[in-house]
Amino acid sequence: MPKNDNHHSCDFCGKSKEEVEKLIVGDKAAICNDCIDLCVGILVDETVKKFPADKNVHNPSIIKDYLDEYVIGQDYAKISLSVAVSQHFKRINNPNKDIELEKTNVLLLGPTGCGKTMMARKIAEYLDVPFVICDATGITEAGYVGDDVESILLRLINEADGDIEKASRGIVYIDEIDKIARKGESVNISRDVSGEGVQQALLKMIEGTIMRVPFSSKRKHPGSEMQELDTRNILFICGGAFVGLDKIIQTRTERRGIGFAAAMADTTKELDFYQKVTPKDLIQYGFIPEFVGRFGLITNVDELTVDHLIRVLLEPKNSVVKQYQYIFKLDGIDLEFENDALTYIAEQAKELKTNARGLKNIIEKCLLPYQFDAINLVERGLTKIVVNKDTVAGNAAILIFNKKIKNEQK
Ligand SMILES: Nc1ncnc2c1ncn2[C@@H]1O[C@H](COP(=O)(O)OP(=O)(O)O)[C@@H](O)[C@H]1O
Ligand SMILES: [Mg+2]
Repeated sequence: MPKNDNHHSCDFCGKSKEEVEKLIVGDKAAICNDCIDLCVGILVDETVKKFPADKNVHNPSIIKDYLDEYVIGQDYAKISLSVAVSQHFKRINNPNKDIELEKTNVLLLGPTGCGKTMMARKIAEYLDVPFVICDATGITEAGYVGDDVESILLRLINEADGDIEKASRGIVYIDEIDKIARKGESVNISRDVSGEGVQQALLKMIEGTIMRVPFSSKRKHPGSEMQELDTRNILFICGGAFVGLDKIIQTRTERRGIGFAAAMADTTKELDFYQKVTPKDLIQYGFIPEFVGRFGLITNVDELTVDHLIRVLLEPKNSVVKQYQYIFKLDGIDLEFENDALTYIAEQAKELKTNARGLKNIIEKCLLPYQFDAINLVERGLTKIVVNKDTVAGNAAILIFNKKIKNEQK
């Protein structure tokens, strides 16, 4: 292509001014709109590959700020997770091949309904990476009927719309990991070794390996049925309640110093025994040492107090109360919760040991009749529903009608 000194054609593709929509002419060169589009495409791709480009995205305190918008309490878990995630991405983007940073998978202990899954989900959302939740109890040893380890990765690839590169930077949350502990304290060979088999099956994937996974249904690649996915940069977060682990810790502390330590163990056992967990305790709980060794971070969520639960009802961006107020507002009804109602709901959830998980059920139950009747009630002039403690206990709510239409009591 002869060089056009007057810049009447694009210096990249050679098309003349007449052949393109726009030709941008500079001092020494010209470029057409098509070539600009192409270049932008390349640049955007590059940024995505380096994602997240913004350094702040990796700042643990900013990750924590994001979690704070949704998750009440759990500062210890938030801080340790934020640091782990930040480290994880530093490792992925580490240009220095001499210092290979080790992968930090996370073991997240703590009672049910206190925000374990939610935190993992929010972190994935924040990083804008594909995320899957699976249940350890559903995973089988290779060769058995059920979900095998590969199917977890296939789901991750599907979440990434078939994009292997994207999937290889995703987050996998494995719930109920405590359920695959070898049962029974004796190391003596018992029949129940299935848990150990599943641990073995998960081990390779979690530590990082290249796994062969069937092709995603979202992107067909004719001619081959398997693809390879490198799991080295996938962050695995495993959560579980670890019922009975407190006894192991208690025995350990008691053994160390009968008397004082025993008394200490007693007073602290409820509140923060999770914080005392050591890898050894987990091995005694029934995990194989190699499996425990794959988790660079062992952290925990705490039991939520009644005050926390009230805050869970009110504060998160998408709190249960805000959600219901929105739903009723769509029908034109103001929904108000009196303070004693909120306290009572929180106390009930605490009593049922469902923690935050139970809050929605309790509210749903007391609002169900009004949701059912909402449209009819509005036609009769209802403008507001006030929920108090009695309502939560099973009695009627206070209904406020627009007096001009009708003055009516439920
Ligand atoms: N600390 C918390 N702050 C705000 N909401 C919470 C918290 N813990 C739990 N929840 C609410 O309870 C639900 C269940 O929590 P989840 O994260 O699934 O608990 P876990 O995984 O610990 O059993 C979440 O969807 C969320 O609405
Ligand atoms: Mg969960």
